[in-house]
Amino acid sequence: MATLHSTARFHRNDIETLGWELTVSNTLDPPESPCRRFLKGQGSYGTHLLAHLERRIPLKRMDRVLEVGGGYGYLMRDLLAVHPFPRVTMLDISPLLLKRQKEALRAYPSVRYVEADFLAIDARRLREFDWIILNENLGDFPTVVGLEGNVREDPDVGAGGEGGSVPARVRRLLDAYSLTTPDRTPFNFNLGAVEALEKICRVGVPYVFLAEHSCEAAVPEPYRRWIDVRAGGNPERIALKGHDEYTIRFSNLVAVAGHYGYEVLRGPVADFLQLDFSPELESILRARNVAVGERETVRHFVEDLFQYEYLLLRKRGVEFRVEAPLKSEG
Ligand SMILES: C[S@@+](CC[C@H](N)C(=O)[O-])C[C@H]1O[C@@H](n2cnc3c(N)ncnc32)[C@H](O)[C@@H]1O
Repeated sequence: MATLHSTARFHRNDIETLGWELTVSNTLDPPESPCRRFLKGQGSYGTHLLAHLERRIPLKRMDRVLEVGGGYGYLMRDLLAVHPFPRVTMLDISPLLLKRQKEALRAYPSVRYVEADFLAIDARRLREFDWIILNENLGDFPTVVGLEGNVREDPDVGAGGEGGSVPARVRRLLDAYSLTTPDRTPFNFNLGAVEALEKICRVGVPYVFLAEHSCEAAVPEPYRRWIDVRAGGNPERIALKGHDEYTIRFSNLVAVAGHYGYEVLRGPVADFLQLDFSPELESILRARNVAVGERETVRHFVEDLFQYEYLLLRKRGVEFRVEAPLKSEG
């Protein structure tokens, strides 16, 4: 029997800190973070991301930007320091984290804050945005756990529209976007992540950036012999304090974006957080089971650079032109 896993209650009521949940952006945030010295180029997550996006999307011409689930607000703080987008909205389900975002962005009084579950808001509200950012949060969105292989054929499943049963919602998405399912049964499905991206793409938001733990990650040479990633293709549970999240089957997101006419750039976050391969880093990676202190933090961080994937989406035919085309993938 499939169940719907949700973190909404945790984020609304129980969350006290993100400290224990070392997102890549938070790990890199303190200027003294040990992880910074193993990267090419200086700076925070936001600084590196901007350098990657600069030639690919027209940042200078972005007017209305929405960040969903901004956590402590560090990413937006770093983006605004370089590009003071005129109209920024931070939407989050967590009142506590919205408060933290207000503190981090207090130098920008025009920023709007919206307390809402992204999955519950009316899609028409998204039409106003040029760019939507979802960094390290799709894994928190609802996941269906324990689906049987026959979800596509089961006559009891019924219609999958709004208010339909969970298996019916899954079936609708599988059929509408010809989504593939993992090579095993029972399997899990990122219902919230797929519905969220469908909502964004349906209204034609011109640009989208998202990043999250992937269940289809791959490590290129020369790092393969040192770094292991989970790549089974089935969204996998990550146990965290007070809640669990699930890795994302990125190929499903690529299929949804492709259906709505988006160009897709896909890769590991190591594409923009590039390792500077020093003898010190080699020694940390070589000792596979570093279990203490700074070396352990660095090792986890380096694994995450490959475990996390990102998508940069650009709606074909949007009016503002940029210098370099996205490389289409998927
Ligand atoms: C793991 S944190 C990531 C924070 C930040 N983006 C980062 O990269 O460090 C997940 C964020 O998503 C928010 N979130 C989770 N589920 C949400 C939902 N359904 N709607 C809106 N925000 C949500 C959380 O409150 C939190 O701010």
